[in-house]
Amino acid sequence: MRFISIEHAQEGMIVGRPLRGRNGETLLTPGTALKGTFIETIKRLRYSGLYIQDEFSEGIEVEDIITDDLRQNAVLAVRRLEADMVSGSSRGFGSQIEAFAGFIDDIIESVLSNKDTVMNLVDLKIFDQYTYQHSVNVCVLSSVIGVAMGLDRAQLFNLGMTAILHDLGKFFIDKELLNKPGRLTGEEFAVIKKHPEMGCDYLRRNCYYSSSIYIGVLQHHERYNGTGYPHGRSGSDIHIFGRIIAVADVYDAITSLRPYHEPVLPSEAHEYIMGNSGQHFDPDVAGVFIRKIAPFPEGVEVLLSNGLRGVVYKNYPEFMTRPLIKLLPIEGYTPKVEFIDLKDDSSLFNVTITKVFT
Ligand SMILES: [Fe+2]
Repeated sequence: MRFISIEHAQEGMIVGRPLRGRNGETLLTPGTALKGTFIETIKRLRYSGLYIQDEFSEGIEVEDIITDDLRQNAVLAVRRLEADMVSGSSRGFGSQIEAFAGFIDDIIESVLSNKDTVMNLVDLKIFDQYTYQHSVNVCVLSSVIGVAMGLDRAQLFNLGMTAILHDLGKFFIDKELLNKPGRLTGEEFAVIKKHPEMGCDYLRRNCYYSSSIYIGVLQHHERYNGTGYPHGRSGSDIHIFGRIIAVADVYDAITSLRPYHEPVLPSEAHEYIMGNSGQHFDPDVAGVFIRKIAPFPEGVEVLLSNGLRGVVYKNYPEFMTRPLIKLLPIEGYTPKVEFIDLKDDSSLFNVTITKVFT
């Protein structure tokens, strides 16, 4: 299976991974042949692309770290929570949080049972469902970091709950402002910057789990070097949950299409996290993160510096910029070998990945 951008989707291509609609309904199941109407629907939802199966990508299996159903149910639960809070009803908040507790236990269970694997999936989001999908993604990514850092089960639960609720305060802020395409005025930014405190206050009053949850929510925009908000805390004065979620949040946000920016590639997001290690981000957290998330996910098409093109076939966890590549024919040229191994073939040590096609 491999990832293709939506511009390259053609009728007759065979779907590799399920795609869901706005309400969690299954739009496409693996094995379905694409039709023009399906492609139009995927474009309308503004998915960046999809996974397909073809002869070039045989043998590449791309698995999510949690099941598709768990992800969808958690996304819908976040959406329900927002709807209730926006309508002013705090009735039912307790029972909704109970449901979140179930999802978080399941997410942590999945992450623990896959703790030696790296995240290899190109995440696919529906444009207008970003808020909910982002909350769940930040929860999954934070759990991956927490497990890799050796947090115990109780801490992982609290971290997962903090992560899924980290932007709860945004539910109280005007959506038009949150999705404003252009530059924010100082005043507008000041409103948005209130969301960690608003989320924290709400949870302090309504959620009776550990205080570490609302402290983590409060501190997820603090920066390691003290330049963040709301309090300009630095280093270990920022709760570990805040430091972990800061990395997961930024990674997921910058790799997503937003009204005010185009998505960056996973490899570019890696560079960003590395470049800000010790600045915005705790270097220990950033170091763990870049070892757990593939910069070149399996199944993406890449261009190599020697002019060859291929699909990332297999990542080596300790050498993630040097994957095994399955070569693709290019116009007028069929490569003599099927695979090249950037890690093990010493004749290729100066060959690098120069472009990712998404
Ligand atoms: Fe936030």
